[in-house]
Amino acid sequence: MRQQLRDRTVLITGGGSGIGRLMALGAAERGARIVIWDLSGEAATSVRDEIRAAGGQAVAQAVDVADRDAVRAAGAQTEPVDVLINNAGVVAGKQLLDATEEAIERTFRVNTLALFWVTRAFLPGMIARGDGTVVTVSSAAGMVGVARQTDYSASKFAAFGFAESLRGELRKHGTGVNSLVVCPYYIDTGMFSGVQTKVGSLLPILRPEYVSRKVLDAVESGTRQLVMPRFVRAVAPARVLPVAAFDWLMDRFGINDTMDHFRGRDEQQPNGRS
Ligand SMILES: NC(=O)c1ccc[n+]([C@@H]2O[C@H](COP(=O)([O-])OP(=O)(O)OC[C@H]3O[C@@H](n4cnc5c(N)ncnc54)[C@H](O)[C@@H]3O)[C@@H](O)[C@H]2O)c1
Repeated sequence: MRQQLRDRTVLITGGGSGIGRLMALGAAERGARIVIWDLSGEAATSVRDEIRAAGGQAVAQAVDVADRDAVRAAGAQTEPVDVLINNAGVVAGKQLLDATEEAIERTFRVNTLALFWVTRAFLPGMIARGDGTVVTVSSAAGMVGVARQTDYSASKFAAFGFAESLRGELRKHGTGVNSLVVCPYYIDTGMFSGVQTKVGSLLPILRPEYVSRKVLDAVESGTRQLVMPRFVRAVAPARVLPVAAFDWLMDRFGINDTMDHFRGRDEQQPNGRS
């Protein structure tokens, strides 16, 4: 299931900003042809131009991945995709009772339901060719719940379940297609600006360049699950503890305080180019 990126077509949703943009630039450097889909046509075009200026191949399209019809129409016009990176995501950062109903629905439409629409557009081609990778960008919040992330965390748990179930289907039928799930802790892109980490030595705020490089490495090595930093992997075995002990441990690591000063994306740096 190893898949070198050279001469492959890589589609990245949310490729106009943050780690999506960096994965687009990085995959182009590794010799891939890039398709950028983003809600913001301007951001997508700007990344396309950056890639072309560096001698790479890229096309860009404004696509709202939460819109089933738009995804179907855009998918029909897109060349066969070898690596699909489901990366587009949103966060509201509100407590359950403070979030609007619209924001809650949007979180699920973008972070969860869009995975179905976009993957269903490109998976048949991958299966027919017996080769491909579907990357699902979940989150560490897809492995553990976090205060002020009820909608976000639930949408990312769902993304994790989507990717794991898909992996089972693809393996069971010997398709040759890989499903890679990515679970990063906070990344310094601006999406979660204001968050604070208590134990920075074990749970550092990640650099976007590091995360994007690791994801591309994981695609090329056929990895199935990428959790960053590695310490986050301790969440799974900690679940054998009684719930009160598990909660105590999470509180000791300050997990439920991380969002106390959350501001979200800084309007001054909408494309995560800080
Ligand atoms: N930043 C973090 O701390 C962090 C941590 C873990 C996981 N993640 C996940 O990583 C992914 C990328 O995050 P980022 O930090 O680069 O964020 P970002 O805000 O920089 O980029 C997200 C991109 O998705 C696009 N997008 C949003 N809604 C869309 C839609 N409906 N259709 C198409 N595009 C849409 C935005 O325009 C933007 O370009 C997200 O799925 C996020 O949940 C981020």
